[in-house]
Amino acid sequence: EKGGWPSFMAKEVSEEPEAVANTIRGRIHDGAVVIPELAGMDDLFAGIRRVIIIACGTAAYAGQTGKYALEQWTRVPVDVELAHEFRYRDPVIGEDTLVVSISQSGETMDTLMAVKYARERGAKTLSICNTQGATIPRESDAVVYTHAGPEVAVASTKAFVAQITALYLLALHIGRVRGVLSGAESADHVRELEAVPPKISRVLAEEQAHIEQFSRWMADTQSVLFLGRHVGYPIALEGALKLKEISYIHAEGFAAGELKHGPIALIEPGQPVFVIVPSPRESAELHKKVVSNIQEIRARGARVIVVAEEGDAAVLPFADEVLRIPLAGPFFEPLLAVVPLHIFAMGLATAKGLDVDQPRNLAKSVTVE
Ligand code: BG6
Repeated sequence: EKGGWPSFMAKEVSEEPEAVANTIRGRIHDGAVVIPELAGMDDLFAGIRRVIIIACGTAAYAGQTGKYALEQWTRVPVDVELAHEFRYRDPVIGEDTLVVSISQSGETMDTLMAVKYARERGAKTLSICNTQGATIPRESDAVVYTHAGPEVAVASTKAFVAQITALYLLALHIGRVRGVLSGAESADHVRELEAVPPKISRVLAEEQAHIEQFSRWMADTQSVLFLGRHVGYPIALEGALKLKEISYIHAEGFAAGELKHGPIALIEPGQPVFVIVPSPRESAELHKKVVSNIQEIRARGARVIVVAEEGDAAVLPFADEVLRIPLAGPFFEPLLAVVPLHIFAMGLATAKGLDVDQPRNLAKSVTVE
């Protein structure tokens, strides 16, 4: 079943391009997003005043990543909450709230209970799910399936990129319904989204061997930090989660802007730090700020591994390793930047001789609260 791959996780990372492509397939017509499952829901989308995304684990980071585009393209305020926190704090929700749950399995008990809770309080519920006919979509008013294919490894990889893709399709649809996006703007974003799968393939082809090589000399590392800003921030969180899950190394993700408010105290000579660098074309200002963060940690002896867009030369003087991702439009870099982090987690766990598919203490789907 592994089709010649050393692990399901390796196979599933290699399937990230198809996970995105298959989630888009059949949902674009003449440059516009058409999601047949959402037919008849336009009035609802036109009337909502708030979106709350609920999920656990990696799915919650997909939600945090999708929030930026969802808010920008629809101009509806979006909050992302961990499902198990959401329903224990009497959230302010009602008929004009759309609660979007994200779950690969569709069976996560915390997420299911949060969906039921939201429905009981009158909110509309939409599920993004990778498993046909699972409990969460059955308990929701609507479902947009991700088509990542079955995911076997406990640590989620291809489902993550498919979840972000589904959120983007949903965002483009709602943005059009609400008249925030013009047909031309939406078509531009659709083109960018359709260009993502071959770009992920390029990252895999060009960086996999390089990352596996340096993860081998990092096998004794005790702790790894990840920094990101804007859409790079949830990707930093996802990179850290994946490393904890399968390599049992202490790992933490931070918002790069938060560095001086605490995390910089952790930097000592030799500390490995991954930095997701924003595109200088998309945001010269954010790019400059993150490059200056890199200089600050480098001056304190950090071993800096950057994930940066092709052609970004500003990072070169301060980086020990440079992982390149192809150019992408605003909001689309995270779908590329996460790929090296998935490869790295797998490379390090493999270098430590661990079972990447079945990490200790974890289950693929947690069906208890
Ligand atoms: C965890 C899994 O227990 O559940 C994670 O180990 C996953 O990999 C999380 O991200 C949420 O699962 P699901 O199926 O709701 O997306």
